[in-house]
Amino acid sequence: MLSRNETVMHFLLNRRSRPAKTLSTPIPNKDELIELLSAGARTPDHGKLVPWRFIVLQGKTLTKLGSLVEKIGIKESIPEDKIAKAKKQLDDGHLAVAVIEVQKESEKIPSIEQTYSAGAVCLSLLNASLAAGWGANWLTGWHVYNKEFEKSGLGLKDNETVAGLIYLGTESIIPPDRLRPNLDEIVEWL
Ligand SMILES: Cc1cc2nc3c(=O)[nH]c(=O)nc-3n(C[C@H](O)[C@H](O)[C@H](O)COP(=O)(O)O)c2cc1C
Repeated sequence: MLSRNETVMHFLLNRRSRPAKTLSTPIPNKDELIELLSAGARTPDHGKLVPWRFIVLQGKTLTKLGSLVEKIGIKESIPEDKIAKAKKQLDDGHLAVAVIEVQKESEKIPSIEQTYSAGAVCLSLLNASLAAGWGANWLTGWHVYNKEFEKSGLGLKDNETVAGLIYLGTESIIPPDRLRPNLDEIVEWL
């Protein structure tokens, strides 16, 4: 039977991300990561389509992706500062999990619900990581949605896109909390 879990409620009411650029080593090892990915995959999924998968990126792979982003950015005339920011995000990363949305053919489940489910996986993985004591941050950017990055960088198929990169590591600072929405402005009681 369900009962109030004070620790979990405290976590959910106080959780906040740790900026990727402040994350350092150590990073989760494989067993620790499997636990986090298991929690991430424990996510609502209408029709049990499993419209998502994970790609674990670390070390040299992130650096290679950083170089690819630079190449794509120059080719596509992306402003220099945006190229540099995206490259630095990848170069400085120690570990990132790409959550891949995998759109499945279905007569019953609309595409948007598969997108929501992939977004929910990102949050589940983010929260599990924070709950396990790792610094974590959900990032995207122009490069993440770029087709060449998705195809030659990550090997995605036509029905796949990146829902988010979840950067993981050890926190070096605890950032101040940001302003949270005022419930009076976003809740309607009918
Ligand atoms: C889909 C999505 C994409 C995001 N992409 C970026 C990004 O590219 N750069 C960035 O600085 N923040 C980005 N953010 C915001 C960060 O995740 C930010 O750290 C987050 O809003 C912190 O919220 P929290 O403290 O409640 O976890 C993104 C958030 C979402 C949901």
